[in-house]
Amino acid sequence: MCGIVGYIGSKNAQDYLLSGLKRLEYRGYDSAGIVTLNGRPSLLRAKGKVAKLSEMIASHKTSDKVGIGHTRWATHGEPSEANAHPHRAGDIYLVHNGIIENYKQLKQELTEHQFDSQTDSEVLAALINSFYNNKTKLEDAVTQALQLVDGTYGIAVVSDREQDKVVVARQGSPLLIGVGDDETLIASDASALIGHTSEAIYLNDGELAVCTADSVELRDLASQPLSAKVEKIEVDMQAIQKQGYDHFLLKEIMEQPQTLANTLKGRVKADQHHAQLGGLNMTDDELREVRHVVIIGCGTALYAGQLAAYYLERLVDDVTIEVQIASEYRYRSFNLPENSVALVVSQSGETADTLACLREIKNRGARVLGVINAVGSTIAREVDGGVYVHAGPEISVASTKAFTSQVAAMTIFGLQLARAKGASLMELDKYIDELEALPGEIKALLEKITPEVEQAANKFTDYNDALYIGRDTLFPVALEGALKLKEISYIHAEGYAMGELKHGPIALVDDSFFEVALIQDNWLFDKSISGVQEVNARGGHILVVTNSTEPIEAEMVIRLDSKLDVLLPMLFNVVLQLFAYYVAVSRGTDVDQPRNLAKSVTVE
Ligand code: F6R
Repeated sequence: MCGIVGYIGSKNAQDYLLSGLKRLEYRGYDSAGIVTLNGRPSLLRAKGKVAKLSEMIASHKTSDKVGIGHTRWATHGEPSEANAHPHRAGDIYLVHNGIIENYKQLKQELTEHQFDSQTDSEVLAALINSFYNNKTKLEDAVTQALQLVDGTYGIAVVSDREQDKVVVARQGSPLLIGVGDDETLIASDASALIGHTSEAIYLNDGELAVCTADSVELRDLASQPLSAKVEKIEVDMQAIQKQGYDHFLLKEIMEQPQTLANTLKGRVKADQHHAQLGGLNMTDDELREVRHVVIIGCGTALYAGQLAAYYLERLVDDVTIEVQIASEYRYRSFNLPENSVALVVSQSGETADTLACLREIKNRGARVLGVINAVGSTIAREVDGGVYVHAGPEISVASTKAFTSQVAAMTIFGLQLARAKGASLMELDKYIDELEALPGEIKALLEKITPEVEQAANKFTDYNDALYIGRDTLFPVALEGALKLKEISYIHAEGYAMGELKHGPIALVDDSFFEVALIQDNWLFDKSISGVQEVNARGGHILVVTNSTEPIEAEMVIRLDSKLDVLLPMLFNVVLQLFAYYVAVSRGTDVDQPRNLAKSVTVE
């Protein structure tokens, strides 16, 4: 949600700022801007994608060596040039990620500033400027202003008057300071720093840093000095490139055999009946005591939790498993029984609602484990233990490979819990064997089924509404499939438990509507077929996805051929990812950066 970059050093600032913004564009893409300093500040801002800004920069090249930049996802004020960052107040320029909650009150008192935008960020710029006189240093003015602010921020600030520094600060929105050779680079996400430096300081909440070309001075908001810890950035260049694919989304779907293998590496060994996560920070005795697991997430991470919950329930029978939507749970007066463990699931590790749940649960004394993809992210740093899923950077805004890795990681957690509670190897082996087989099964599926899924997508591309239905473990897959379709193709789609069809949604069945029915060949097969027949009888259009070889009456049937049983829903999900992708391509939408969305939702 919004991307921030900053530069101070011996090289051209515009070059890094622009390349960094291109890398961060998936975090917000309704407007972008940069300012660089040298003599006269050069402020360039454009509505729309970074490509627009890039054209502007091409005709306004500078050789400035200091500057900041921003790519925006609008919260306060529509996407426009005036609302784009950097915002100016007097001599200072500011880029901001987050929300200043008390901006209206603050604005009323800032009568000397002529506001050009509707943003809360400009209020913060004006507030800093109100403390910035000839005797004040920039970092002190920023500190004074931040003491009055309620809300969240990651900011980078420069001043025309002190061109030898960039001041950054963080409260709730990620910020990293890359330490290079005779240069210091700022980014809200490690991907912007790749290729420039492999070392960075991750700012914590309540910290401010004064960056020069060859130093970083860290302090808290009481101006007390802090020591900075330089860490290695663990993202490689390959992982953030399209590698010949038309879209990041397709690349990320196709690389799932490998990314899932990374999730399982060293954790699952079928020949040794072994399934264990290294970082839980829980002994077997502590695991044995667990009686209640609450899984929390948003969007795709939530649905991954819903699917994993079925597996956990089956693996451990003396533990109650519940799944909660983070944005709701954070405000509920929930009771966590003794011996509860929370699993917070997040690809980015920055989602504001999930982070708030984590803090709320920790406050109540329960243990929180993370199921996180982004290494070094805020949630990963605050949990008591957990697992990195190692799916690699997800650049496409719609989440795909993270889902698969999250479900796998939570299943391993379930196996570990079950084993600690005395489950026999025999009982667990089915899951362990299927987990180990899963990357190969996804690979075989992708190789075989892609053309057929593309054909199906072309067939259903002109509908305006879709209903995804599935039972049991295929219910969360239906929810996730519908989410994928709606977010990238803009077709209205809903996921439903198949048994709920006749309790309401069947009223929708008509010619403009299609259903995607997910049917596994198991003990629920006959009941699922009845669901399809009910829709057929009312003239509905159905796409069936199944592993059954039985004849099924439908407009089109995609058949999966796999030896998997319990984890087969993961293959259904891959089919639905591909289906959504090809529908979006045929409708000509912006697949990697769908309208109104942004990766990593760091505001409420
Ligand atoms: C859907 C999608 C979102 C995210 C959700 C949680 O494709 O990307 O629904 O899954 O915003 O994000 P994380 O996992 O980063 O907490």
